[in-house]
Amino acid sequence: MVHSSRRCNFNKKKKGHEPRENTWRDDRDAPGNQGYREVLKENEKYWQFYKEQNVFPLEQFDEFRAALQRDLPVSFRFQGCHKDREQLIHEMENRFFGKIMEAGDTAVCVPKSLLWYKEAYQTPMSRTAVRSHPILAQLHNFLVTEAELGNLSRQEAVSMIPPLLLAPTSDHYVLDLCAAPGSKTTQLLEMIHENDENPKGMVIANDVDMKRCYMLIHHTLKRFRTAACAVTCEDAARFPQIADNDGGIIQFDRVLADVICSGDGTLRKNPEIWKKWTPQDALGLHRMQIAIARKGAQQLKVGGRMVYSTCSMNPIEDEAVVAQLLRDSKGSLRLVDTSSLLPELKRENGVNTWKVFDRDMKLYNSLDDITEEKMKKVIVTSLFPPTEEEANKMNLHFT
Ligand SMILES: C[S@@+](CC[C@H](N)C(=O)[O-])C[C@H]1O[C@@H](n2cnc3c(N)ncnc32)[C@H](O)[C@@H]1O
Repeated sequence: MVHSSRRCNFNKKKKGHEPRENTWRDDRDAPGNQGYREVLKENEKYWQFYKEQNVFPLEQFDEFRAALQRDLPVSFRFQGCHKDREQLIHEMENRFFGKIMEAGDTAVCVPKSLLWYKEAYQTPMSRTAVRSHPILAQLHNFLVTEAELGNLSRQEAVSMIPPLLLAPTSDHYVLDLCAAPGSKTTQLLEMIHENDENPKGMVIANDVDMKRCYMLIHHTLKRFRTAACAVTCEDAARFPQIADNDGGIIQFDRVLADVICSGDGTLRKNPEIWKKWTPQDALGLHRMQIAIARKGAQQLKVGGRMVYSTCSMNPIEDEAVVAQLLRDSKGSLRLVDTSSLLPELKRENGVNTWKVFDRDMKLYNSLDDITEEKMKKVIVTSLFPPTEEEANKMNLHFT
């Protein structure tokens, strides 16, 4: 029904040169590639910025800092139909967990199912530790094999949340605007297939980057047999309206805007962020994030649901974008309180106010504080927090 409007020259792609997410094999911490481990996990601007933003209570700051400086815990999710997932989980627990615990090595932590997502598992051990510990060798081989068969995927726990909140059903039309490499697309597809092998609904998975679309099709979707997914390669901010067979316009029941962002919540996975991060990274993305989210909202059915998500804790990338979207919608959109969904998930409320800093941590309270000509294009009104009255109507604490 839908196809990419751009020509793909897949022959140009060098085999094996794409970063592969959702795999267990990767060379990031292999001997000879020690750059990753040697990165100094400090960035004074980052600490100062997050102290100022109040996105979590200040007394948790040391805990926050220590968590970001620790290795990323390993998490993975079982895929496929309900029955197969149950069977595989049973097999993993029976074949390996007992033996691992009997060995009594205190350095080894058996993966535990997430309280808010029972098909997903996490261990505080790093991937390198899981891969190299002799007691875990058999479990590791099992995970590698099942990942290659498409029965499980490695995915960060937080990345699993947006599809769970969208909760599409089998008759839903779902638009995933920034889909590659596709962990969330797979989750969405599983949901529409959950009770129906041939669902009426479908997922349109879009990404502007052709190479990443290739990765989405050939690495992620390859193992997922479905006729309910189409991949498009478009700028999400200009995503076109799609006509149905009768000439009507398709409006989506669910939209995911998992937008491009500074990724400053992924420091443990992308260590170069420690060296490079400044508050300006977010400022430069703000307009694009709003444009993508706005296009998503325009494609939504009346009564439909959209999730806007980033890999950043920065209110400039989160609350400021949502606030502008609500302002623009003039009452057609409202924020939904999701606190009763996934009740076991530990979370903080969104914030109503925040601070705008530039690259050098200069604070801007309004457009009047701009002294440099070049900053006039960067610092725009929508970066600033809403007035108290506006904030009360917006319910930004639901974010
Ligand atoms: C955070 S990643 C998405 C991760 C993906 N949702 C997942 O769960 O695997 C952001 C994606 O947005 C894509 N992107 C960046 N700018 C875009 C645009 N203007 N339109 C569509 N996609 C865009 C990037 O290529 C990247 O793949």
